[in-house]
Amino acid sequence: MTQHLQVVEHPLVRHKLSIMREAGTSTAVFRQLLREISQLLAYEVTRDLPMTTRRIETPICPMDAPVLAGRKLALISILRAGNGLLDGMLDLIPSARVGFVGLYRDEATLTPVEYYFKVPGDLDGRVVIAVDPMLATGNSSVAAIDRLKEAGATDIRFLCLLAAPEGVARMKDAHPDVRIVTAALDERLDEKGYIVPGLGDAGDRMFGTK
Ligand code: URA
Repeated sequence: MTQHLQVVEHPLVRHKLSIMREAGTSTAVFRQLLREISQLLAYEVTRDLPMTTRRIETPICPMDAPVLAGRKLALISILRAGNGLLDGMLDLIPSARVGFVGLYRDEATLTPVEYYFKVPGDLDGRVVIAVDPMLATGNSSVAAIDRLKEAGATDIRFLCLLAAPEGVARMKDAHPDVRIVTAALDERLDEKGYIVPGLGDAGDRMFGTK
């Protein structure tokens, strides 16, 4: 569980992802599958959460029951496509706090520029899960995690749907402490920075834009 990259190879995840990849899949079906798959990925990314016990009374007897330890989780959506992963994750972790990081690419310098940053307080005491469906070049994801660390986060995981080897290497180089959980590791990036074979532009597919 301590490896840098975890590919979730569950049959349900793989099956749903294949339908999402198909160019002919409608926006409505894509969205529904995204919600379902993010529930399954949320299950995996939280597998090692710290636990404690609480004394409770069952109808039969008292017991020390296992419960989550520590502060509420923070889910951080990297805008805009990260929002597509939030609903499914909140189905499973309804009390999580939610934050947003907005970045755009400066076409002159090709570096990410922040236009929005709003995150829960006390990030240093929380497990932080940053979400973005596509880990492509890794530039925006690395920049978002830089900002989360500046804001105090110390325990960060990164959840995505598809990762390219280039993005995984970039993240490992910049943030070796951040575990990546993904539904698939694809082959490469094309010359425009799209993941191959990928699923196209995740934001356009989930929001029906373009
Ligand atoms: N972002 C996307 O939405 N798709 C890709 O293939 C790469 C980055």
